[in-house]
Amino acid sequence: MKITVIGTGYVGLVNGAGLADLGNEVTCLDIDDEKISQLNAGKIPIYEPELESVVKKNKKNGRLKFTTNSKEAIEQSSIIYICVGTPTSGNDKSADMSYIFSAAKDIGTYINDYKIIINKSTVPVGTADQVKRIIKENQTNDSEFVVVSCPEFLKEGTAVNDFRNPDRIVIGVDDKKAKEILTELYKPFETLNKPILFCNVRSAEMIKYASNAMLATRISFMNELSALCEKLNADVKMVSKGMGLDSRIGSKFLQAGLGYGGSCFPKDARALVHMMRENECSSGILEAVDSANERQKTRALPKIKKLIDDLEGKTICILGLAFKPETDDIREAPSLVLINQLVKEGAKVTAYDPVASENIKKAIKYDNLKITNDPYSAADGSHGIILVTEWNEFKELDYKRIQKSMKTACFVDCRNLLDPEEMRKMGFIYSSIGRP
Ligand code: UDX
Repeated sequence: MKITVIGTGYVGLVNGAGLADLGNEVTCLDIDDEKISQLNAGKIPIYEPELESVVKKNKKNGRLKFTTNSKEAIEQSSIIYICVGTPTSGNDKSADMSYIFSAAKDIGTYINDYKIIINKSTVPVGTADQVKRIIKENQTNDSEFVVVSCPEFLKEGTAVNDFRNPDRIVIGVDDKKAKEILTELYKPFETLNKPILFCNVRSAEMIKYASNAMLATRISFMNELSALCEKLNADVKMVSKGMGLDSRIGSKFLQAGLGYGGSCFPKDARALVHMMRENECSSGILEAVDSANERQKTRALPKIKKLIDDLEGKTICILGLAFKPETDDIREAPSLVLINQLVKEGAKVTAYDPVASENIKKAIKYDNLKITNDPYSAADGSHGIILVTEWNEFKELDYKRIQKSMKTACFVDCRNLLDPEEMRKMGFIYSSIGRP
């Protein structure tokens, strides 16, 4: 099928490349000239495992194209995905819809025959109706079109694999002809036995928010529980394991840490609170989830201060800056909160991340912050280490060497990545989250 994807962020790029890989002819459209020139030159603007090879392969075989020409991109395709950002806006923490509305306006301006408009961005319930209205307002002919909702559930760091092996595909569609076309488009997934759930448009829009909010709730619940585990000498890792074995609960997204970050959970939980308030429904649970998460991001500081009373002039090494492993994304990352706290305390910060360093350098600048190219030089001469992101490579470091190179071997493992016994045996004064 001929498909246009508007927006070349995580969602748009992975979706576009994935659909091309399934044999469709895909054009990715973006207003950002520089991004499109980069993509046309074969450069991927984000770090996402496997994405580069899928993009290169499909660019080479001519199934994947990149353009800034809205008119051409919209006219040529019968299926148009909207994959633009919906960042948090203003004091009320609602979703900023300006990019969605601008995409809808362009579709209205250039629509030339029957089209299915698929909304993949995370948008407040009822957005499809607004998109429909804006297209109609800008339309200069009577071409028919249908707006459907097909929310995206991919995770950064595993996005390409998530596209190929989704837990489910949700399609909110209220029109018979569009449903038939989309059944055909998503047939490859049906063959792979991936469940496809058809529902009405508003339910699909709600499923996306509800899923992210539920996962965020699980994490905040475990994070609060971790503080109680510390007080009562229980081990939160074993507690989550024991809970997860109950098939009604399941084992995923029960890891206590330093709080969730990224471009979705914080923003979507807040946007759902806004929707609940706007509709005069109680939003207490989700408000608590969000504030528990903000609190959790500040929990590393008291932990390191318990090991080193006065941080003034001391060097603290941070391992991991990205909001989670396998990404260079630092949006809402707990590392940002921690660096600010440490600098305020008068500490010198040395930090290392396998891929997120450049983004951190762009986001914050302190005389007392030094980003290094390897973990050993970050730890060398430091008084304490705080492990913030659970990159796999941090499991394999030579901690004996690191211990010897430190001034005082204090270690706060905020992701419970390492074995407390082993770390203590090596001479570390080791503390973690929710473990005795
Ligand atoms: C999330 C959703 O999972 C995905 O379906 C949606 O499309 C986009 O938002 P993403 O933000 O990429 O994906 O990352 P995810 O793996 O879900 O992790 C989110 C945050 O939760 C990270 O900061 C992670 O460290 C944290 N987390 C996750 C925990 O603290 N504990 C856990 O057990 C799991």
